This record gives sequence, structure tokens and C-alpha cells, in this order.
Amino acid sequence: MRLAALLMTMLMALAGTATADDTAVGRVVDDRVVGGERVSIAEHPWVVYLADSGGYQFCGGTLVAPTKVVTAAHCAAGRTPRNTRVVVGREDKNSDQGRVVRVTDIWVHSDYLTADQGADVAVLTLRDAMAERPLPLAGPQDESLYAPGTPGRVLGWGRTSEQGAVSRYLLGATVPVMADADCADVYLQYDPAEMTCAGYPEGGVDTCQGDSGGPLVAGGKLIGITSWGEGCARRNRPGIYTRVLAYADAIEAQLVA
Ligand code: ARG
Repeated sequence: MRLAALLMTMLMALAGTATADDTAVGRVVDDRVVGGERVSIAEHPWVVYLADSGGYQFCGGTLVAPTKVVTAAHCAAGRTPRNTRVVVGREDKNSDQGRVVRVTDIWVHSDYLTADQGADVAVLTLRDAMAERPLPLAGPQDESLYAPGTPGRVLGWGRTSEQGAVSRYLLGATVPVMADADCADVYLQYDPAEMTCAGYPEGGVDTCQGDSGGPLVAGGKLIGITSWGEGCARRNRPGIYTRVLAYADAIEAQLVA
């Protein structure tokens, strides 16, 4: 079991270097988020990206309070406030729209080890309060948003195909929430208590590298945090998201801190 999990992790690491078979995957779908389309930041004012001090975008995030951004632990672990920036209100990475905000504190869930072991959640504290509308977190009343078939919206500036480049513009796509049993069939590390998964059986639409930490939204709430998957948009390989409802209390505790 331990060995199997290790092999799986190695396989996923290798997924970045595709074989001839894999190249069929990033495929014919149009070249956005993987199967998505451009969306406006004005309609999604709470979606942000994380950049290093050189301005290089490496992950996504969600503004959940004026000074608080939820992201993935694997985006934040090992970083310092000094070398981390949050870019708010900028749809086009090559523009100077919106603002680049400094970070004063980084909290990473204490149970976090690697993304596929769960607890892939972190909260960044911003130096300044943002005027943008925050996105509410899924709470105890929102269990129904995880029902299979619920349309989830994913957003980000990540790769537009498994082997492709990251996107210059904010992209969005719709992926249905899948049944836990189906996700557990696909990935032995899938833990329904900590994760949710979304995608189409035939693939084609998915988040990808660079989208991590960004939102999975349903019913106007943050229900997931882009976390991991085997390759991107592959047939029968859904994307895995941190189950926000499972961490709502832990996140809330950070919002008052
Ligand atoms: N781990 C990736 C990142 O750091 C996100 C992967 C999501 N993959 C997927 N197939 N949905 O950006």
C-alpha cells in the first residue's frame, strides 16, 4: 500500500514528461485552461494569482476576506512572505491592471505533507485590505454543493494543455463534481473526507499546472482548491481539489487571526 502510493506519486511526477500516447491528451480541445475560455476579472474579482518577487506567476488563489487569500499548501509551503506576492484585479498578466500586494503572513495546514495526502490548504495574509468582493467559503449548509453532477467553475492562469505554456489571460471552465466512489476508483490516494474531484469521464476540460491554489466554485461558494491530478484533462483522470467544507473551521480560524 505504501509502496503503491509511492509509485503513484512517482508516476505523477513523470506525467510532465509525456510519452507518445500521452500527447493525444492535451489535444484538439481549444487551447484555454485546458478546454476553457477567457473570462473577465470584473466578474470574478476574488480570483487572484501568486507570483514570486520577480513577478513570475506560479499558482492561483481566492480572496475570502479583505486581507486573506486561500490557496493550496503546496503553493505556499517553503515560501516566505518576503518572496511572495498576490496579484489582485489583473486579468492579463502582461498588463499593469490591478495591483501587486505584499504578504505579511503564510499559514500552511499543520497536517500537510504532499498534495495527494490531503490538507492541501494555506491562507496568506495581505499587507493591505482589498476593496474587491471576497468569495464566501462553503460551510456546513453547503454539503449539497458536492453532489455528483454539480457544475463547478474552475479559474486560473495555468497551462492550457498538459505539455503547454501557461496562459497570459485568466481562463475559466466548467467541470462537473464527480461521485467520490468514481474518484476513489481512479486514484488510490483519493480521500473523500479531504478531497473532491471534478471532470468529465472523457477528459478534455481540466485545471493544469499553474492553476493550483485557485478556486473550484459552485453555488457562489468556494468548494474546492485546485490540488492535483494525473496529467491534465486526460480521459478518466479527473482533477482533485481540496474539499473546502472539510477545512472550513481551520480556514475560518485563520480569518480572525
Ligand atoms: N498541481 C498543479 C499545480 O501545482 C495543479 C494540478 C491540477 N491538475 C489537474 N489535472 N487537475 O498547479
